[in-house]
Amino acid sequence: SAGDVELGDYQHYMQKEIFEQPQALAATLEMIGGAQTLTPNLFGVAAPEMLAGVRSVLILACGTSFHAGLVARYWIEQLAGIGCSVEIASEYRYRVSVPNPEQLVVAISQSGETADTLASIKHAKALGMGRTLAICNVPESAIVRECALRFLTRAGPEIGVASTKAFTTQLAALFLLAVTLAKQNGRLAPEHEAGHLKALRHLPVAVQKVLALEPDIKVWATRFADKHHALFLGRGHHYPIALEGALKLKEISYIHAEGYPAGELKHGPLALVDKDMPVISIAPNDALLEKLKSNLKEVAARGGELYVFADADSAVDEEAGVHVLRLPEHYGLLSPVLHVIALQLLSYHAALVKGTDVDKPRNLAKSVTVE
Ligand code: G6P
Repeated sequence: SAGDVELGDYQHYMQKEIFEQPQALAATLEMIGGAQTLTPNLFGVAAPEMLAGVRSVLILACGTSFHAGLVARYWIEQLAGIGCSVEIASEYRYRVSVPNPEQLVVAISQSGETADTLASIKHAKALGMGRTLAICNVPESAIVRECALRFLTRAGPEIGVASTKAFTTQLAALFLLAVTLAKQNGRLAPEHEAGHLKALRHLPVAVQKVLALEPDIKVWATRFADKHHALFLGRGHHYPIALEGALKLKEISYIHAEGYPAGELKHGPLALVDKDMPVISIAPNDALLEKLKSNLKEVAARGGELYVFADADSAVDEEAGVHVLRLPEHYGLLSPVLHVIALQLLSYHAALVKGTDVDKPRNLAKSVTVE
């Protein structure tokens, strides 16, 4: 409970948990040590057998954990060449779906007690799907007990209702899963595997550099804390980060926010853009940057105020109505882990300006254990 965890110098648990992310990631990655290569045992004793021959993955989760699943889909399909679908647990459990007994079913949950996620795993099992894996932050929780395999994230207790460090450690776990599946599927050269593990181990340092941007992010947050709507844009594996940025802002600042894949802008949200709706854009220096920039021009042309989270080397320039903050490192496939941290800080500071109850936002619960 909150009473057992000291706030220390922090004002809120959410703030503490945002700043604990380097340690939370390092602790979660401790189980791979200095290894140059992964063994499936990481996911449990039955994993070598259960993961062998997996040709498709179904991820089930709710809330922020669902967004972690959406990022993982990009990784699993790209690295492992294995089809991956991601479904909101409460939808999956009640719809008529086509079961695939060979499929690996992954439940993602911070608490391990979310009623819909637990029920969705039971539902999958009842449909004959026995290869189940829990990615969870609480050992011996109901979801962990229900699944054949497990990976425990080591974020430590998360008390703020809005999930932060649990999310980034889930991403680390899911990246390990993607690399493991890629290996099993014969898709990964040993030098690439070592490179991925090296990138993972460097994350705590890279995250620390993003946290150092807090003063600049705070200035941005004060600029749009009085707005009633905000739009978050991303593309590719940063699209789920746009969704997560919007969710964070809604949850704790009560500003209505939507996350959109930037390519969909012209199919609806552009109609809403004006000077009163800030558009927050994730602009890493990747293959989609040029496309994203043309999306941003569409926003600027309509008088929208743009807040762009770019990478050190992204060719995006400050101009009237376009504010740019640069994350210190370009991080390739793992870049979502860094970009989400900037968005967590943004909503935290917007909520501070608004004076909301950051750790216990109205109407929300940390863990939804009843339907
Ligand atoms: C609640 C919390 C969210 C969380 C979601 C799923 O809505 O407020 O922060 O993402 O439940 O929780 P879980 O414990 O299953 O990850």
